[in-house]
Amino acid sequence: MKISEKAQAFINQEEKYGAHNYHPLEVVLSRGKGAFVWDVDGKMYYDFLSAYSAVNQGHCHPDIVKALTDQAQTLCLTSRAFYNDCLGPYEEYIHNYFGYDKVLPMNSGAEAVETALKLSRRWGYVKKGIPENQAMIVGCEGNFHGRTISIVSLSTDPDSYAQYGPFTPGLIKIPYNNAEALEQVLQQQGTNIAAFMLEPIQGEAGVFVPDDGYLKKCYELCKKYNVLFVADEVQTGIARTGKMLCCDHEGIRPDIVILGKAISGGVMPVSAVLADDEIMLTIKPGEHGSTFGGFPLACKVAMAALEVVKNEDLTKKAEYLGEIFRREMRAFKSPFVELVRGKGLLNAVVIKPHNGKEAWDVCVKMAENGLLAKPTHRHIIRFAPPLVITEQELMTAIGIIKESISSLE
Ligand SMILES: Cc1ncc(COP(=O)(O)O)c(C=O)c1O
Repeated sequence: MKISEKAQAFINQEEKYGAHNYHPLEVVLSRGKGAFVWDVDGKMYYDFLSAYSAVNQGHCHPDIVKALTDQAQTLCLTSRAFYNDCLGPYEEYIHNYFGYDKVLPMNSGAEAVETALKLSRRWGYVKKGIPENQAMIVGCEGNFHGRTISIVSLSTDPDSYAQYGPFTPGLIKIPYNNAEALEQVLQQQGTNIAAFMLEPIQGEAGVFVPDDGYLKKCYELCKKYNVLFVADEVQTGIARTGKMLCCDHEGIRPDIVILGKAISGGVMPVSAVLADDEIMLTIKPGEHGSTFGGFPLACKVAMAALEVVKNEDLTKKAEYLGEIFRREMRAFKSPFVELVRGKGLLNAVVIKPHNGKEAWDVCVKMAENGLLAKPTHRHIIRFAPPLVITEQELMTAIGIIKESISSLE
């Protein structure tokens, strides 16, 4: 890929002064609007990553930016040492929006996952009666829940966990998309298990969609064994898969929902844990928190971002456009394309290496042709544009994807 001197200078700067914990595509972005981003040389791209599904409402949505700038000039941060006039309205708004008694506001997705783990353990001791320090949490192989020590303790991806030990105890890993495995572990150790946590679709694993009925079966098993069903909807939530929450596809209501990313439309780190009183009120004042969690700026931004989802009917759009994407890509025959899968506008193409080229080369070619996407693992490309993309834009983008793949054959 040709890189301008201007772009190269930014890349070199990151290389020299920043930690090397990412491997970005060599594109340097400086502007975004809706489904598009522009690089420092003014070249326009379709954004088919959406900052890992954080920018569902499109880049720099005017309603969200207005909420941000208005509030930024009024009051940004109070901490939770005092009340403010944004948090209460936000909490009531979230209650009405998602139908849970309460919200616990945090910042990053990983923090919200950690919060859900703590909340689950706490519920396990206070309500279920698990003996002290015996609470177990069950997670799934192939998961991605974030980067903290406890979360990577549950990971089965060596890139995430290797050489970060010693790990947090009390975590059990079972195969994903296998309700029998859950039943077995619940039968054997259910009395000490507080929660089962999963992604309704495994995003980072490569948009791995479980079989129909899996979530419901797991939910029912959790009820049978008095175990909390915890859905990490950080990537799948907020309309991405064609429903407000991915669990809505199977009509189940998780005991704990974890949200992040698109709850702010990608404008700032905002995350949230939702639960009913029976669970949420097991944490008392002083027992959990975050200086920024639920700060006035975040409250206003998140409300504006969630209004956009409703006003622009983004769930319907994701569902409708997702069907088109999968239909078009499945009809496209290429030695590179092994499989197309997904729900709503969270999709992936599994790439079969061909001619010595693999998923990374396809992404480089697409970038040259004006479309950004990134491989997740070595052979999978995730395609997740902002949900505000129009049908015509989507069709043009699909044309770029096909043309890029064909040119490598
Ligand atoms: C399902 C899921 N949970 C949690 C996270 C972590 O979120 P964050 O990167 O904001 O900490 C991610 C991030 O990709 C995710 O996909």
